[in-house]
Amino acid sequence: MSYRLERSEEYIECVKVLYENIDSLDDVLKVEIKKVYKDLLNSLKVPMEELVEYSILISKAQSIWADAKVNNDYKKFESTLSEIIKFNKKYVKYLETEELKGYDVLLDIYEEGMTKEKYDKFFSLLKAEIVPLVHKINSLEPLEVSLKDKLFDINKQKEFANYLMDVMCFDKSRGLIKESEHPFTSGYGTTDVRITNHYYEDLLISSIFSCIHELGHATYEQQSNPDLDSTLLGGGASMAMHESQSRFYENIVGRSYEFWVRHYPKLKSIFSEELKDVTLDEFYKYINNVECSLIRTEADELTYPLHIMVRYEIEKLIIESDVDVCELPSIWNKLYKEYLGIDVPTDKEGILQDVHWAGGSFGYFPTYALGSAYGAQMLDAMKKDLDFEKVIGEENLSKINAWLKEKIHIFGSTKTPDELMKISTGKSFDASYYVEYLKNKFTKLYNLK
Ligand code: CO
Repeated sequence: MSYRLERSEEYIECVKVLYENIDSLDDVLKVEIKKVYKDLLNSLKVPMEELVEYSILISKAQSIWADAKVNNDYKKFESTLSEIIKFNKKYVKYLETEELKGYDVLLDIYEEGMTKEKYDKFFSLLKAEIVPLVHKINSLEPLEVSLKDKLFDINKQKEFANYLMDVMCFDKSRGLIKESEHPFTSGYGTTDVRITNHYYEDLLISSIFSCIHELGHATYEQQSNPDLDSTLLGGGASMAMHESQSRFYENIVGRSYEFWVRHYPKLKSIFSEELKDVTLDEFYKYINNVECSLIRTEADELTYPLHIMVRYEIEKLIIESDVDVCELPSIWNKLYKEYLGIDVPTDKEGILQDVHWAGGSFGYFPTYALGSAYGAQMLDAMKKDLDFEKVIGEENLSKINAWLKEKIHIFGSTKTPDELMKISTGKSFDASYYVEYLKNKFTKLYNLK
């Protein structure tokens, strides 16, 4: 119904008239109309029947994929995936412009301004610098974890989550936290920001870092300019920009030593029995443990972008070559061996693990890694204004919040990701900050030369 509305004569006419008179509009409306006009032009390029047919395919694909995953049977999903790919290739052709061709069309949808050329540069740097580091760490003795085999009461975990909300200055009068199978955040303007978390009795740190991650998304939403509420420009500027904030809080702040110097005593007081033999240093090493594993969503900070790199390379093949879908699992497994040094025993733990391709989302994955990389560049800029190590060890993160508000959050999505990088860091995205950050942190953690 919403699609029909957007394709109606009145709507199209309305957008066109506003676009033709854009100079007479106020600043917010100007950006809104530019966005709407761009979407409209794209939408008009694709025949309505084909889009409807595709929507039906995608809605069926979800359960076909879920069934294939549960039964570890890629064959069951193969023909559906093939149909989805066929449409996406056609879709790319419809949307191509002078500037954007092939996979770039899709990449731009998820992160305006990002292209294959830029991502290639980013990932080849990771391949050259991070893959060898991961292999080196992988060859060391694995960490002895004294938190394993212990149970952590869920109500106590919730108590600590509540404490974290205060540490991050989450305004509880403008949002709340509940539970769901997979943690997420959804914002309806700055006055209604909803977070969910998931608690596992046998995995204490899962709920802690999910909580910090989602609070990162929530802080972005709550700190956006309230004047932008109920416009098209509230909330985050892009997928990667949103993820840059959640991962900044989760990894750069939340997995730092200084943060836990302040907050570990609180955690220990809640779990006095369970953590009585676990020192701060052990806890710090534990939360930063590098392990080459199969599942992206459970990956540590260092190996995470390598999981994304596998998906990026396969998406390039899918969109820009005639690769046969039946070959994708073996390509997947080969890349996991190459980058993470591990064998993939089943497709369930391999190519079938993520829902994205069943939803037709090609071009989405790379934004996850890009978000982390944006964050590292922001850290470098932030350190010029703040005594970072000191402020992350304070009672709460109000100073970090204030910096990010002024440089990023307040603008909502009135600026492009590139404009926000320039405002916050003084320059366009540069992957070397991220690579340096990871190398420094993990070389030190593992006492490598
Ligand atoms: Co996120």
